[in-house]
Amino acid sequence: MDIPNVRTEERHTAVAPPREDIGDLSKVTYIDSTGRAHTVDATVGDTVMATAVKNGIPGIVAECGGNRSCATCHVWVAERFAPLVGGPGDMEEDLLDMGVSDRRPTSRLSCQIRITEDLDGLTVEIPADQP
Ligand code: FES
Repeated sequence: MDIPNVRTEERHTAVAPPREDIGDLSKVTYIDSTGRAHTVDATVGDTVMATAVKNGIPGIVAECGGNRSCATCHVWVAERFAPLVGGPGDMEEDLLDMGVSDRRPTSRLSCQIRITEDLDGLTVEIPADQP
């Protein structure tokens, strides 16, 4: 009796998607509260928060999962990228005002920053304390 080896078949069908299906990559650098830089590949279209969580970057808590309600993904965008990233929307502005202890001119919620090709090399600094 010929019994198929399911594990072997699964191994052969689990093929990585073609490169063009993954999406373009950009680099994002996170400076943690100790000053250590973490540079990671980020997929264009993902958020700065999701990329941090995916890569285990310390200091991005993201309690609400990107629903703009916790402010535990607060970052300071590097000055040179601030014009490209832009400012916060109204709801984000309110949350930054109410929920962040060290609000600065380049403060943003990283869940609200979507990575584009233009943001390749984006650098953000992570506060020592999140709300
Ligand atoms: Fe909660 Fe960004 S993850 S506001």
